[in-house]
This record gives sequence, C-alpha cells and structure tokens, in this order.
Amino acid sequence: MGTAFKNQISICLFLHLLLLHVFPLVSQDASSDRITQGQLLLDGQVIISAAENFALGFFSSGNSTNRYLGIWYNKIPVQTVIWVANRDKPISGTAGILTIGDDGNLMVFDGSASIWSTNISSATANSTAVITDSGNLILLRSENVGDQSKALWESFRHPTDTYLPDMRIYTNVVTGIGTSFTSWRSDDDPTSGNYSISLDPRASPQLIVWDGHNRHWRSGHWNGLLFTGLPRMTALILYGFKLTNEGNGNIYFTYAMKSSSIITRFKLGWDGTIDQFVWDEGLRQWNVSLSEPSNDSEIYNYCGKFGVSKAMGSPICSCLEGFEAKYASQWEKGKFSDGCIRKTPLQCNVNGTSDVFREVRGLKWPDFADTAAADNINKCRDLCVNNCTCHAYTFASGIGCMIWSGDLVDLEHFGEGGNSLYVRLAKSELGSRKKISTVLWIVIAAAITVFVGMIILILWRFRGKLLDRKNNKAIHDMSSTVRGLSAVFSEADDIAFDGEHGNVPQLPVFSFNDIEIATKDFANMNKLGEGGFGLVYKGTLPGGAEVAVKRLSKWSGQGLGEFKTELTLIAKLQHRNLVRLLGCCIEGEEKLLIYEFMPNKSLDSFLFDSFKKSQLDWKTRFAIIGGIARGLLYLHRDSRLRIIHRDLKASNILLDEEMNPKISDFGMARIFGGNQNEAATVRVVGTYGYMSPEYAMEGLFSVKSDVYSFGVLLLELVSGLRNSSFHSPECSNLIRHAWSLWKDNRAAELIDPSIAGSCSEDEALRCINIAILCVQSGAADRPTMSSVVTMLESTNLNMTMPGEVDVCLKSSKSLDFIMECHENSSSIEVPITEVTGR
Ligand SMILES: *[C@@H]1O[C@H](CO)[C@@H](O)[C@H](O)[C@H]1NC(C)=O
Ligand SMILES: *[C@@H]1O[C@H](CO)[C@@H](O)[C@H](O)[C@H]1NC(C)=O
Ligand SMILES: *[C@@H]1O[C@H](CO)[C@@H](O)[C@H](O)[C@H]1NC(C)=O
Ligand SMILES: *[C@@H]1O[C@H](CO)[C@@H](O)[C@H](O)[C@H]1NC(C)=O
Ligand SMILES: *[C@@H]1O[C@H](CO)[C@@H](O)[C@H](O)[C@H]1NC(C)=O
Ligand SMILES: *[C@@H]1O[C@H](CO)[C@@H](O)[C@H](O)[C@H]1NC(C)=O
Ligand SMILES: *[C@@H]1O[C@H](CO)[C@@H](O)[C@H](O)[C@H]1NC(C)=O
Ligand SMILES: *[C@@H]1O[C@H](CO)[C@@H](O)[C@H](O)[C@H]1NC(C)=O
Repeated sequence: MGTAFKNQISICLFLHLLLLHVFPLVSQDASSDRITQGQLLLDGQVIISAAENFALGFFSSGNSTNRYLGIWYNKIPVQTVIWVANRDKPISGTAGILTIGDDGNLMVFDGSASIWSTNISSATANSTAVITDSGNLILLRSENVGDQSKALWESFRHPTDTYLPDMRIYTNVVTGIGTSFTSWRSDDDPTSGNYSISLDPRASPQLIVWDGHNRHWRSGHWNGLLFTGLPRMTALILYGFKLTNEGNGNIYFTYAMKSSSIITRFKLGWDGTIDQFVWDEGLRQWNVSLSEPSNDSEIYNYCGKFGVSKAMGSPICSCLEGFEAKYASQWEKGKFSDGCIRKTPLQCNVNGTSDVFREVRGLKWPDFADTAAADNINKCRDLCVNNCTCHAYTFASGIGCMIWSGDLVDLEHFGEGGNSLYVRLAKSELGSRKKISTVLWIVIAAAITVFVGMIILILWRFRGKLLDRKNNKAIHDMSSTVRGLSAVFSEADDIAFDGEHGNVPQLPVFSFNDIEIATKDFANMNKLGEGGFGLVYKGTLPGGAEVAVKRLSKWSGQGLGEFKTELTLIAKLQHRNLVRLLGCCIEGEEKLLIYEFMPNKSLDSFLFDSFKKSQLDWKTRFAIIGGIARGLLYLHRDSRLRIIHRDLKASNILLDEEMNPKISDFGMARIFGGNQNEAATVRVVGTYGYMSPEYAMEGLFSVKSDVYSFGVLLLELVSGLRNSSFHSPECSNLIRHAWSLWKDNRAAELIDPSIAGSCSEDEALRCINIAILCVQSGAADRPTMSSVVTMLESTNLNMTMPGEVDVCLKSSKSLDFIMECHENSSSIEVPITEVTGR
C-alpha cells in the first residue's frame, strides 16, 4: 500500500472519528469475540474469545507507557501476552485504534497514521476478525465467518515468541521457509529481540534457535516420535509433537497435551532459552516444565568441530576418539570453540580398505546430515565407505540412512539414552586400540588358563588323598566359572551388534487407560480385524496420531520380563517393509501392542475383492512383491534375530498410503510359538494353504517354510486368486494348478485378467517361475530369500527349472485331510537342511 493511500485512509478515519457517532464501536459487553467491517476497537476495549480463554486489546508492559496491540490469557491473573501486533512500532499514548480498513485488512492506527496492517492483497471489501479459544486471531470474508479453514490471515501463521497447542509450525522441505518465532528484547519489552526459532527440514526436521544468523541450539532430528536431541522428552511420546505432511512439500508440527484442560505454552525467552510453561491453578503460577538449553553443554557446537560436550564431563568438552584438540593450550584454558582435528588423516580410497568406522554411542547426532537411499545399515555403510567426503553415517529408526559429509558439529553426549554414530577413522587409529585390547585379553586369558591349570594340576596330584566329595565339587565349580567367563565374552559381542540397529533405548510403555480412551473402550466400530494372536483396533491418540492396537488373546507362557525383552528386541527390527512397533502396554491380564496405523489395511482386502483388485495394477503388484521379498530377507538374514515369520499371508501384509507393503505380525511366533530351540514345535502357528508341507505335517520349520509361504503369496498376487478358496477337482490347489499350467507352457493363463492391460508378461512369468521354485516340496530345493530378491531384480537370468512340486495341501481345518493326501502322494520328502534357533 502506498503512503499516499495510507494517509488517505487515516485522514478519512479522522474525519469519521470527529463524527464518532457515525462509526460503530465494538459493543461494550464482553461477549463479543469479533470485529466486523467498519467497527473500531479503542484502547481500553477488548474482545474476548467465545469460551473467554483469550482477550485481544491494547496493553503495556513493565513500567513503560508504550502501548501494543496483543493477545493474552483472559482467565489468568498474571498478565501473559502470547502475541503482539505492532511490536516494533509502539504507540506512545492511549490513542491506538484497531479496525478493518476499506480494503478488508486489519489495521492499527496510532491516532495519526496506520502503523500496522495484516497487509494481504486478497482481502475483500467486507471482512471480519475473530479471536478463537485457542488464541488465534483470524481474518475472513464476512460471509465465511464460522469456517475457520477459509481464513485470509491468522495470527498463528505470524507468531511472535509463543507457541500454543493447535498452532502449526510449518516448513517447506524444498525452500526451508516456514513459521518463525522471534523473542522479545527483554522480559518487559516486546520489541523484536536477537533470537528466533525456525524449522530446518534437512534430513529430518529439527527446531533451530538462531542468535541472529548463528545457530544457538537445536532439538535434534525428528524420528517420527520425538526429537532425538531431547532425551528428557521420551515420556511425552503419547502426547507431544506430531508431524503432518500437508503436500506440496509443506510439513508442520502440532503439539497436544494429555488433556486439553491443561493450559500450556512454549516461549522463546529474550535470552534464547525455550521454556515450556504449565499453569498451576492452585498455586496461581506458571510452572516451567522444560527448559532448553539448560546447560552450557547443550549450546550449539559448544565444543567445536569433532568435539563432544557432556554436562557431567570434567572438562565439559572432549574430542571424539581418534581426534585431538586443535590448539591444546586453548583447550586447557577452557576455550573449546576451535574444536578438534584428526590424529591421523584419512587415507580414503574407493575400495574402502584403508578407513574404518568406529561406533560412538549415546550421542545427539551432529548437525547437517543428509539422508540417503539405503534400506538397511549395511547399504548405508557402503554408501559412506565409497564416498571420501563422508565422515560418519548411521541408520536411524524412523529416519533411515543418515550421512554426514562435512565436519561433525554440535555433538553432545547424553548421560543416558542417545543414539549411535559410526565415525570414519584411519585404519591405523582403530588398529592401535585393537592391538592394546587384544594384547590385554591375551594376557588375561593366559593368566586365567595358568591359574586354572595350576589348580587342576594340584587337585590332580593330590586326588588320591582328596577323593572326598567336597573336592570333586570344587573342580566342578571351577569349570563352571571358566564357562561363565566365555559366556560373558560372547554376550558383549551381542550387545555391540544390537547397537547397530539404531539403539532404541527402550520400548515406550502406554497405560491401559490411555489405550482404552484411544480406542473408545475397544469399540466395535474401531475394530480393524482379527489376527492370529488377537483382535486389532484402530486408536486415536490425544494428539490426533492414529495407531493400530493389537490386543493379545489370553496367553500364558513366558514371564513378563521375558515378554518385554522379546518385544524390545522386536522393536529394534527396523525396515521400510516391516510394520513399526511403537510401544506396548502390559497391565494385569492385558497385553497390548501398539503399531503404526496403515490406512489401506491389508493386501487381501484389495487382492481378493472383485471391485478393488483392479486398483492393484501390475506395477503396484510387482512393487509389492519386491517389498515383501526385501522385508522377509531382512528378517531372515540382515536382522540380528533371524526371525522366521511362520505366518506370512496376504492378510498379514499391510499397505501404507502409497501402497508400500509392510509385513506385520513378525516375531509373534517367537513370543507365542513355544520352544524354538527345538527343530520341531509343539504348536503349529500358521495358516493352512500357506504352510509348507514339512511344517504343516511335522511341525518342522526353517527359513525355507517362509520361502514356501512367499511362493504361495506370489502366485496369489499374480493370479488374483486365493489359494485357500481355489477349488479344482481332487486334491488340488492353486499351486498344483500353476504347476500344471507351467509344465504345459501355458503359465500366462494364470495372470489375473483384471490386470491384463498393465501387465508386463515377462515380469509376471518370472514371478510365476520364482513362485514355483519357492513352493517345491523339498525345503532344500527352495531358493533363499536373497536369491529370490536377486531373481526378481534381474531381467535376463537363466532360471532353473523347478523340481517336484507335486504336493497337495488344500484349505482344511484338519491335519487329517493333509495326511490323507500325503498317503496318496508319493513325492513328499521333508529334508530340513536349515533349522534356525536363537
Ligand atoms: C518499575 O517501577 C518500580 C517502582 O517505580 C521499580 O521498583 C522497578 O524497578 C521498575 N521496573 C523496571 C523494569 O524498570
Ligand atoms: C506490506 O506488503 C508490502 C509488499 O507486499 C511491503 O512492502 C510492506 O512493507 C508491507 N507492510 C507491512 C506493514 O507489513
Ligand atoms: C458485510 O457482510 C455481512 C454478511 O455477509 C453483512 O451483514 C454486512 O452488512 C456487510 N457489511 C458491510 C459494511 O458491507
Ligand atoms: C543482541 O545483539 C546485540 C548486538 O549484537 C547485543 O549488543 C545485545 O547484547 C544482544 N542482546 C541479547 C539479549 O543477547
Ligand atoms: C508447580 O510447581 C510446584 C512446586 O514448584 C508443584 O508443587 C506443583 O505441583 C506444580 N504444578 C504443576 C501443575 O505441575
Ligand atoms: C551443567 O551441568 C553440570 C552437571 O549437572 C553442572 O555441574 C554445571 O554447573 C551445569 N552448567 C550450567 C551452566 O548450568
Ligand atoms: C581397488 O579394487 C580394484 C578392483 O576391485 C583393484 O583393481 C584396485 O587395485 C584396488 N585398489 C586398491 C588401492 O586397493
Ligand atoms: C559424495 O557425497 C557428496 C555429498 O553428499 C556428494 O555430493 C557426492 O556426489 C558423493 N560422491 C559420490 C561419488 O557418490
């Protein structure tokens, strides 16, 4: 708006003010929550939101006589301003007026000129401004009042220093532009201060507090549940922040409290601290429930490049292993900002033979990460190894592969919790440490051997004289001590390995009460389905996040401790094709598992539905096949636990909004399946039709039983037919049908007619070939999942012809039927070559 125009308005306004009766004032009774076109709000008047939570009007702060237009809590006796309009242009007397100008914009006049305006060009000649009960001042076309989504302007999108629940903190993943907060200059002065907050979308979003143009503090990367740099926030998992993707690269955070009756706000202080306040109605005061940074160690890059700060450390800064202070003398004086440098320069070569990676645990990940396309830690490592600019990598649950290409800055070591980082070092660095520790172990081992040997020797020598029971016992005790020692060593190995999977500190525990509320008391309408191990419900957490809750059927067996340990292990399995376990709840008889919610439900709801199946075109189906194969490969080979699923079927494959497949119910067999150290299990867990012959009939299971189920699933995906409902004469099924078509070179007839248009026959035939290899009767003949993945990916592969597939397993509730078939069929063999225990 030009100055001339502005002046014109103010002159007009003044003329009107002289004839004040012409201009309607905001009604004096406190019930008004709005200003309509042409109304005036004078200094001293307020408008109040419908439930009287917030007030809008002019205020002054401290001893100053400057007046500002602002919003504050109406019911709270301590003046708490959450938003200021004209913060940089105060009004020096009580002449301030708020009105809606002729162009529909909200404007503040100081008696002679407009000093603040909402300044939007899309406004109309008739607007209304409303103050809402969440503290938002919104401007809309008068005809749209009542539909807040049509706001032309809102104060929540132009905040000052306060963040309230319901407010959205935006950023754009491409431009990085979004909501920004700016501190006051001092406690009493709303003028824009030195500090600001914005959301940095790089790698995974994090909140950054800026001191001018320098970073002052950051929250750590968002991992889907919490900010990884705030270990104290773990407890807030249920209620805290939630990230939503609005599309077009716009994402935003919202925040919810456990109960909307709790009054809370976050404020960026004039000194750059973020405080969360909670109102205590009894004491009539604001309590601070979170304050960051709370210690020097949390200030951005306090210890410089490659330095690590630690609140309890003495000194507070140290260098990463393999690094030393850049200027030792400065470092000793407590001046850490120059950071650390490598003791041995990197020798990077492309073959990755001269550098190594060392795991550092318990960290806040450094800043300036990039994400890379790798779906497990080994691929992530390969990406880093092969790029000489890569200083570190990690594979984070909820984020994926992160790679640091520049210097590592802003590292903090947490007392507990924190995350693992793999830092690149010259090989000689690791070697030196390894040598020392190896030598140490050899010395210890030698000492123990000599000691034990001597004692045994002594006992042996005197065995004649000491043939009483006591001494036999002594020898026995001693050998068990030696056994115990070796057990300790192997356990240490295990722990190191588990650390590789993103170090989930522990599985969040939800209270039963919260889950009851989230699922509306396990209401029938929230029921999503029934799995092999219990009913599944949809739940909505107070923050609006949707989850799937599995209520395990009554179950006895393992002790509670074991159950939790098992869950914690399973929660560590992270792969984009596995459904994520978010938490659990164990109270009395109730055992619940909380998973991420999959809006598209399960594969069978599409594949076997005559209307929906055409939504799964061939491209989608092929992508689903690849995804399932990679998920299964991860369970079988890449994860530490070597999980055999044992109940892979279409209803256990869930689909996310982009139709990516996610395997669910993995690891359940571990919990439910009885003694897995045995090759055979007493209780057969699984679904007829998907079960391999050796498992269905003899309870023998191996990774190859999953390969069999995968083969069945593959046939179902290509044909669109359900194995269990496939009726052909005699003891036949989809597998036999596929096999006979294959033998006659008519396999193309198996392809689902509803995808005929989109189908690549080459790919489909390759899938059928792979499926047939997977369902061979001999477990040893079936390929492993890793060869399945290779075969799926390679276009010109000479595939082996399947061996004998002539096995009959028909959908049946009873094993007798299968046994009957068995007798008629001569070709069942059950060679188990690979039986995996723990
Ligand atoms: C405000 O005035 C009171 C009394 O005059 C004085 O004690 C106090 O220090 C002043 N506060 C500020 C921030 O100047
Ligand atoms: C209003 O917007 C124009 C350009 O869009 C800008 O130049 C001007 O400074 C803005 N005025 C205020 C008061 O924000
Ligand atoms: C603005 O619109 C409202 C309803 O749409 C109407 O009642 C009111 O008279 C209008 N005001 C002006 C100044 O045009
Ligand atoms: C803000 O920055 C100015 C200039 O850099 C400095 O003089 C002032 O002390 C800073 N204020 C605070 C509160 O840090
Ligand atoms: C506020 O803090 C006081 C002690 O400082 C404590 O007794 C009270 O329970 C707290 N109130 C809330 C709502 O946290
Ligand atoms: C940081 O924390 C340590 C340990 O709790 C404490 O000794 C130190 O004083 C703290 N520093 C600051 C600036 O609060
Ligand atoms: C790297 O590997 C390639 C082939 O694997 C080999 O020819 C080359 O000599 C290797 N370079 C070094 C420095 O080891
Ligand atoms: C190595 O990483 C940098 C930074 O991420 C990237 O720009 C570069 O293309 C990578 N080089 C190779 C060979 O992948």
